[in-house]
Amino acid sequence: MSNGPRMSHQAIRERIATLPRLDIALKNTPLEEARNLTRALGGPRIFVKRDDLTGVALGGNKLRNLEFRLAYAMKDEPDTVIVGLDLQSNSARQTVGACNKLGLRTILVLEGRKPNNVQGNLLVDYLLGADVHFAANQREQRAMLDGLADEVRAQGGRPHILNDNPMFDVASAVAYLEVTLEVLDQLDQRGLKPDYFYMSSSGKGSAGIMLAQKLIGGFAMHAVCATDEFHLPSRTAKITNETIAALGLDITVAEDEVVNTEDFVGKGYGTPSDAGNEAVQLFARTEGIILDPIYTGKAAAGLVADIRAGRFSQDDVVVFVHTGGTPAIFTWNELWH
Ligand SMILES: Cc1ncc(COP(=O)(O)O)c(C=O)c1O
Repeated sequence: MSNGPRMSHQAIRERIATLPRLDIALKNTPLEEARNLTRALGGPRIFVKRDDLTGVALGGNKLRNLEFRLAYAMKDEPDTVIVGLDLQSNSARQTVGACNKLGLRTILVLEGRKPNNVQGNLLVDYLLGADVHFAANQREQRAMLDGLADEVRAQGGRPHILNDNPMFDVASAVAYLEVTLEVLDQLDQRGLKPDYFYMSSSGKGSAGIMLAQKLIGGFAMHAVCATDEFHLPSRTAKITNETIAALGLDITVAEDEVVNTEDFVGKGYGTPSDAGNEAVQLFARTEGIILDPIYTGKAAAGLVADIRAGRFSQDDVVVFVHTGGTPAIFTWNELWH
């Protein structure tokens, strides 16, 4: 655990308040103690931060970062937001929902083919009224983003390509720095302090909790990644240090401080795993909390494996951040019946 500077919550909140921001997400989401889950696993104390309940378009972690990403975008007064993401992206769904709230049109360029059975996030994208396009690969996706932006301009519109937004990664980290403060306050009201945070992250949200760990101290951040396509130590340290710069702080984070495991990816990004599916069922059947098999289920599998390995004491306080993603259960319906 780091011995970095200790900063007050108020001072951290003041730094966050220097960034342009919109009010989109339901924040101060509940922190729920999962007593049945703790009993089923034989300890530690587990608290679930319900960031699946952030409101817009079925909720999730991205609504928090969209408050910063879209605030930055609004400086150019766009009328259309264009974004390239994965076929079943939670981020895409939440972006369309957020843009609807702001009165902006959304064009999605999703990597993949339109399936015969439109389900999960893609179904919600259509319901929200997004203009959905499909790209065969990332190179085609990039060309389509630029081409569609040109088309919008030719029609007199003002496009913003969200992938090029300089706040893209930093926004997530800032959002989860703030989430950490929410959790610390919520635990404090119960006379508790956290020992560990667990969360599905590819290094953006987890960068924020890591930064909180550096600034406040006393707990560890254990991320579990849903993909093995990144070098997580360098990616997370880079995002954390960019966030430090955006907030005008003068510390640095090193790669070897990053804890983010790829051990629960299974067969690959976007494919459910046995351990992840078991964890989804465990949370559902003990607590009535619905995770998803692509992100949060795999993160929960990481937590369950660490509990079974005897990593915690009975009194340890573990915060599991539920980052949303729930629509994926419908895409993978055959797993549950
Ligand atoms: C449900 C869910 N959890 C976690 C993540 C990872 O978020 P990040 O890499 O921004 O921390 C995502 C985004 O891709 C997600 O959709």
